[in-house]
Amino acid sequence: MTARAASPTRTRQVLPWRLDCHVAAGDDATAADELRRALTAPRPTIPPRWFYDDAGCDLFVRITDLDEYYQTRAEQQILDAHMDSIVAAHSPTELVEIGSGAARKTRAILDAMERAGTLTRFIPFDVSPGVIAASAADIAAAYPGTRVHGIAGDFVRHLPRIPRRPADGRRLLAFLGGTIGNLEPTPRRSMMRRLARLMRPGDALLLGTDLAHDPEVLVRAYDDADGVTAEFNRNIVRHVNHAFAGDADPSDFAHVARWNARASRVEMHLRARRDLQWSIAGLGIVVPIEAGSTIRTEISCKFMRAGVEALYADAGLVPASWHEDADGRYAVSVATRS
Ligand code: SAH
Ligand code: AVI
Repeated sequence: MTARAASPTRTRQVLPWRLDCHVAAGDDATAADELRRALTAPRPTIPPRWFYDDAGCDLFVRITDLDEYYQTRAEQQILDAHMDSIVAAHSPTELVEIGSGAARKTRAILDAMERAGTLTRFIPFDVSPGVIAASAADIAAAYPGTRVHGIAGDFVRHLPRIPRRPADGRRLLAFLGGTIGNLEPTPRRSMMRRLARLMRPGDALLLGTDLAHDPEVLVRAYDDADGVTAEFNRNIVRHVNHAFAGDADPSDFAHVARWNARASRVEMHLRARRDLQWSIAGLGIVVPIEAGSTIRTEISCKFMRAGVEALYADAGLVPASWHEDADGRYAVSVATRS
């Protein structure tokens, strides 16, 4: 009797989504240069993209559930109330979301597009490959029949990697969460111009902006009682250590959130609890940090309507609608490209 080898079973899994990654090793030189410059400046900073490793993305999701962090609930409330009319006004066939993160609020947009019968494609774009992979898989499972094309990239450099939309479609470009406020005025205007370049006539931009109001409420949103934001802030040290072989102990830094009235922004800093020498071998630097001095990790600018509309005008966009939450603390606005 001849024994027949069992033929190997081959399973071919076809994922219902794809992921392009532009933030892997080959790209690190630019990111490393930027971080080295920021940390060795006379007033050291760390660009906020370094908050968002997998742990930082998870901490950010915990922030969005905090009582003090009203921004996410306010934005969700606005999207729930107005997405159907926004979709009716602009008939988008695809959604491109920049800084999409866990893409929880995104569902309010996709649901409205699905109800209108226009949804064909979703393109989430974020600097964190882990969060894009997880959210792309979740969304693909929840919206069968919708093409999901995730892109992991830096929105300063990689927006041109987003595919063009089909000539017979219409794009809704979303930049939510108030993330535009994490940019200084000049990079913010550049960002808006880059967003405008992703749009063609008939396309629309959906922008979330936190509004200027009571500084006490604002600072509390960045200094919660449970210390989740403090942990999020210190995690930036952990991420830099991990990415570039650094040796600082995150617990050597205290979390600081303060209101800067002149610039209408909340700032987050890390204040050294003792004299430190932060060696970061992968960047070839040692950063001397005196006890009591700070590294600024984030600015979060708070807007007025006129300021948002000036940003649109500068980018060649035309305001189409403006929606505030019931407390007037947060706005989602829509602009079009003529
Ligand atoms: N839009 C979500 C997440 C906001 S948190 C919400 O509203 O809840 C900000 C998101 O922007 C994070 O997911 C972070 O990874 C991403 N991000 C920060 N800097 C970025 C950069 N330079 N390029 C691309 N994405 C970035
Ligand atoms: C993502 N970004 C708009 C948040 C903000 O409110 O500036 C990040 C954040 N930082 C601390 N809490 C939340």
